[in-house]
Amino acid sequence: MVQSIQENMSEVFANAHPDLMRELFARFPSGVAAICIESDGEPDGFAVSSFAAGISLEPPIVLFSAMKESRTWGRLRQHDRIGVSILGVEQSLVCRRLAAREGDRFRDVRIETGEHGALFIAEAPVHFECSVHAEIEAGDHVLVLLQVHRGRFHADGSPLLYHLSKFHRLLAA
Ligand SMILES: Cc1cc2nc3c(=O)[nH]c(=O)nc-3n(C[C@H](O)[C@H](O)[C@H](O)COP(=O)(O)O)c2cc1C
Repeated sequence: MVQSIQENMSEVFANAHPDLMRELFARFPSGVAAICIESDGEPDGFAVSSFAAGISLEPPIVLFSAMKESRTWGRLRQHDRIGVSILGVEQSLVCRRLAAREGDRFRDVRIETGEHGALFIAEAPVHFECSVHAEIEAGDHVLVLLQVHRGRFHADGSPLLYHLSKFHRLLAA
C-alpha cells in the first residue's frame, strides 16, 4: 500500500505489493557488477546491482544478493573461482546483455579469462577474483559473501551507476 503524506512524498508499507517495494528500493543508487565464470570454454554469468564492496577487510569480503530461483547462480555457485567486474560508465549495453533471460548473454561482450575459471569483462574499471565465503538466506534472495583473492583497477576508471531503473554517470557533488 502507498499513501501520499504530502505533495511529492509517499509512504510504502511492508504489506505493499512487491512492485511498490521495488520502487522504494530503487531510490537507492548502486553500481553494477558482472558475476562471471568460464566452464568448459563457455562463458557464464549475470549482471547484479545488489553488489557491495568492503563488507570485511580481513579477510577481504564483498557481497551481492542472488534471486533464490536464479538458474545462473545455481550454476556459478559450484565454481572455485568467480570473477566480479564492476562495469564502467560506457558498459550499460553490456549490463543489459548480461541480464538477458534468453539468448547469448556474451554476444559482442569482450571478456578476459582469469585463473581457475574466473571470467572478467574487458575494460571494466575493477576486477575482483573471488571464491564463495558463505551464502545466507534472505527472504526470496540468498546473500552471497565472496572472499576476494586479488583485485585489479584502472586508476582513471569511472563506474556505471544504476538508479530508478536507469543508468547514470558520476558527477561530483
Ligand atoms: C540492472 C539489473 C540489476 C540486476 N540485479 C540483480 C541482482 O542483484 N541479483 C539477481 O539475482 N539478479 C539481478 N538481475 C537479474 C539478472 O541479471 C538476470 O536477469 C537473471 O539472473 C536471469 O535469471 P536466471 O539466472 O534464472 O537466468 C539484475 C538485472 C538488471 C537488469
